[in-house]
Formats: sequence, structure tokens, C-alpha cells
Amino acid sequence: MDVMVIGSGGREHAIIKKIKQNPKVNKIYALPGNGGISEDAICVDIGAKDIQKQVEFAVKNKIDFAIVAPDDPLVLGAVDELERAGIKCFGPNKRAAIIEGSKVFAKNLMKKYNIPTAKYCTFSNSKEALDYLKSAPIPTVIKADGLALGKGVIIARTREEASSAVKEIMEDRKFGESGASIVIEEFLTGPEVSVLSFTDGKTIIPMVSSMDHKRALDNDEGLNTGGMGTIAPNPYYTKEIEKECMEKIFIPTINAMNKENRTFKGCLYFGLMITPNGPKVIEYNCRFGDPETQVVLPLLETDLLDIMIATANGKLSDIDVKFSNKSACAVVMASEGYPLKYGTGYEITMPKDLTSEIFVAGAKKEDGKLYTSGGRVLAVTSVADTLKEAIEKSYDVVKKIDFKGKFYRKDIGAKCINN
Ligand code: AMP
Ligand code: GLY
Repeated sequence: MDVMVIGSGGREHAIIKKIKQNPKVNKIYALPGNGGISEDAICVDIGAKDIQKQVEFAVKNKIDFAIVAPDDPLVLGAVDELERAGIKCFGPNKRAAIIEGSKVFAKNLMKKYNIPTAKYCTFSNSKEALDYLKSAPIPTVIKADGLALGKGVIIARTREEASSAVKEIMEDRKFGESGASIVIEEFLTGPEVSVLSFTDGKTIIPMVSSMDHKRALDNDEGLNTGGMGTIAPNPYYTKEIEKECMEKIFIPTINAMNKENRTFKGCLYFGLMITPNGPKVIEYNCRFGDPETQVVLPLLETDLLDIMIATANGKLSDIDVKFSNKSACAVVMASEGYPLKYGTGYEITMPKDLTSEIFVAGAKKEDGKLYTSGGRVLAVTSVADTLKEAIEKSYDVVKKIDFKGKFYRKDIGAKCINN
């Protein structure tokens, strides 16, 4: 089989390394991929949002299966276009991807179908939003409706912060058209858990739980980033919470999407908060999380491509999806200055015999050498019998990888082993 994977980050590298293990796989193409991915796949210079070129490439190269990994092409309808051209795909179509593409849609869906989430109001007029904020409980959370590169969520601790966020999003259009509508919601507290799931719209199989570390600095300080590291499983996700999530959140969401005639097929990501009143949905993503994928897939024992093909064919119930009982830790190595301004073009050096997996996110290859090209450069993932060992293994390897301005959090998973 020839497979094509759309995307260029650490998540795509983790997916590619996993599907490479399937003996049926012949060629793997990455569109566009990156310097690290080029060691495991053929990189083709077609951007993740260039759907027309993706379709032409898939048809010309007789691709047997396409995996659309990032949010942008999914929300833009890449799966619809590829399927129209006869290419089988893993990923939701445009009608289903709206669960991530519009926060107003997601909140209204949860309200309509009684799925636990923060209380909220939606606005498409800034004056009404600003009026509402005069008496809204503080802190409050302001979310741009559409995709905003993971930056469209503002936690406002004062009324002034809340009002400026509304003005920036709705009037100045800081996130472009994503800010035409907003959600203002109740501020929730509690540990966060990410649960990715496979679903074909009939069966839903949650994967091992994980925990992201979104802030740039240790002790969850500093700016929000795309994710500085992950661990799996998440110790806050107990058996009881898992059962409650299945009954009150996962199955109701799949059923709700079916009732709305928006059957979701692919990876549905539940961003949860375990509040004093039980688990609630903070966000849905219509795709694998990044960097959650870099710890979840290394623990997957069943063949990933077989699961993806069964999902696309509506036959997920035929597959017995198994995860190992081990623990995993991914430490992201970033460029100093990320998520703001950072330098690029620095050579990355590492020994050949590393004992952990390296998933490359922001690097290019020139003359056989890797050079930094992004904010998040790579993730080091280790798997071990205990979380403590996995963390130690990853940090041992991190110390052996070098590039100018390398920067990483020192406390990935720390709060999970100290309590
Ligand atoms: P982002 O990755 O930019 O979408 O950030 C979402 C983050 O904002 C979540 O991981 C939470 O930490 C936080 N967040 C979102 N909604 C709420 C909420 N209602 N209450 C508290 N924190 C929230
Ligand atoms: N790690 C969060 C996300 O992928 O959106």
C-alpha cells in the first residue's frame, strides 16, 4: 500500500513511524513533512492547506490511503475532496470537523445534548459582549469561535482584561475571521486530561489518557504554547472518571453528531477538566493532539494503520485495540524565545545510538544534517515500566541533543510523581 500523510509536525512524525511498522506499507509520502520526517517518509513540497494539490498528487500517485492529521485541512474539507477523487481517508469530513472548527457549534451541541461543559454565552456583536461582561463572574474565559493556531483562548482575571480581549478579538480581529463570533464561558478548575479516541461513528474506542503541559515555563508559568511535553497515562484519569466520561461525554458526543447528521469518523480528541463537579469538556479537537500523540502512539500495541483503515470503513468494532500498561513521557525541545520570536537555522547534533524515540517537528535537512526551523524543534519520548523511569530516560536523552538556543521544561510529569 502507498500511504500519504498530510502535515509537518511531531504528531505526523509519530504517526508515520507507527504506520511504517505495518508490513503492507510500501511507500509513505508526507505533505509537506519536515527534515526529520524525511528519514521515514518521502517528503513532498505541498502545504497542509493546499487541498487541490494534495488531491492531484494522490490521484497521480495512486495513493491507497490518506491520513489528514492537522486541523486546518480537516476544517477546510480535505477529506471531502480526497474522497470525491476516490481516495480513502482517515479523518472527519468538513461537516464533522466543525466540532473543532467552531467553538460556538461545539458549545451549542453540548448544551443541546446535555454533555457536561462550562456554562457559556455566545456573541457575534462586540457591544453585547462588552455589556454582558459588566456583570459576568470573574475570572472568565473568552474564546474566538474559529481556529486561531491554539491562541484563541484568553483567561481573563479582571473585567478590564476581559473587555480588552473582546475588543482585540472582535473589533481588531487579532485572529482574523475566527473572531467574528466568540464564546464567553465560566472559569473551571481542576486537573486537565486529554483523551484521544478512535471512532467510526458507531464504535468509540478511547486511547490511553495523557496530560499536556501547555505553558512555556516550569511550574506552569509563562505563555501558552502548542505544548511543551506530555505524559501518559494521566494519573488523574481514574477508572471511575473513565466510566463517567464514557457514559456522559464520549458516547453522547458520537450520538449527538449522528443526530445532527454530522457522523464523525477519525480521531476525536476530548480536552477534559476534572472539576469538583465531575469531568467537563473544555474543548473538542477533530484530530490527534500534538504533543499527546507522541506519548499515546508509542504505547499502542495494535497496528495503527489497520485501526485507521477499519475506522474509515466503518468497521472499528472488528478491531481489538490494545495499549501497553507502561508509561510514556515526551519532552519537547524548543528554540529559545518560543512561543514568541526565536532564531532558526542552528545545527542539531545527537548521538546515533539514542535509546528513546525522536519525533521531529521543526527542522530541515541540508547536506545530511538537521537544522532548526521552528519553535518546537523535536520531542524525545521514552517508554518505561513506571512514569518516573520514563521521565528520567527522556531527560537523559535530552541532555545528549544539542542546538544553539535549546530550551525545554525541566518538570514534565513532575507533579504526577511527587504526589
Ligand atoms: P488552547 O490550547 O489555547 O485552546 O487553551 C486552552 C486552555 O485554556 C485549556 O487547556 C485550559 O487550560 C484553558 N481553559 C479553556 N477553557 C477553560 C475554562 N472554561 N476554565 C478554565 N480554563 C480553561
Ligand atoms: N495539545 C493540544 C492540541 O493538540 O490541541
